[in-house]
Amino acid sequence: MGLLNHGAAPAVRAQTQSRVEPDVIYVPTPQAAVDAMLDVAQVKASDIVYDLGSGDGRIVITAAKKYGARGVGIEIDPALVKKANDNAAAAGVANRVRFLTQDLFTSDISEATVVTLYLLQSINERLRPKLIRELKPGTRIVSHVFNMGPEWPPEKTIEVDRSRIFFWTIPSVPSRKLVGTYSGARRPAGKARRARIPRVFARGAMPPGGMPRPEYVNEFPPRDTNR
Ligand SMILES: C[S@@+](CC[C@H](N)C(=O)[O-])C[C@H]1O[C@@H](n2cnc3c(N)ncnc32)[C@H](O)[C@@H]1O
Repeated sequence: MGLLNHGAAPAVRAQTQSRVEPDVIYVPTPQAAVDAMLDVAQVKASDIVYDLGSGDGRIVITAAKKYGARGVGIEIDPALVKKANDNAAAAGVANRVRFLTQDLFTSDISEATVVTLYLLQSINERLRPKLIRELKPGTRIVSHVFNMGPEWPPEKTIEVDRSRIFFWTIPSVPSRKLVGTYSGARRPAGKARRARIPRVFARGAMPPGGMPRPEYVNEFPPRDTNR
């Protein structure tokens, strides 16, 4: 398994998706960046840190060892899951962390309070609806090197050595400004029926010049939330 240069993009291994094939190869996050990721997320002992694509387990293990957090690593490669479990035992945190051989796109991540990523921007973008749908408001997300695309700009960006680290928070639903609340079934009198009008959308999520796509609507926080 070849390692790429520090900060370089992990290469996509599989063009056709097979659920036993990783979506991206294993490249470890350098320890300085791991420390910075956990620092920017302000990890504490009460947190449950999920690393999606957990490799040798270093992010989750560091969160447990340094901050007393609990953690879960989701990793598709069983050999890396074994290595992560061995590393957790060697670090004395096996009772606080677990590593699961699972596909990050189908794993249950709802208990996480912090999610860490080192994948690819395209994978982050595919993952984004799941993050928004499953994570609790206030859950922090930190990504090494890759952002979430232009529609969900990070709240913070920091640089460690030559790597960038991006930080987001899942918005609280009540804080969203509801500016559209009618569906085709409850449209105001005189309004023509329009196909698939979203029932709820946030002011800041409206793209310039148009109605958001339905799946866009609840995927992104308003730009002025959490600032
Ligand atoms: C770039 S490495 C990051 C490893 C670790 N998070 C770190 O930062 O050191 C990406 C990891 O994601 C795993 N992976 C790729 N596709 C996956 C999938 N669909 N589900 C779970 N893990 C996956 C790879 O096996 C690899 O270990």
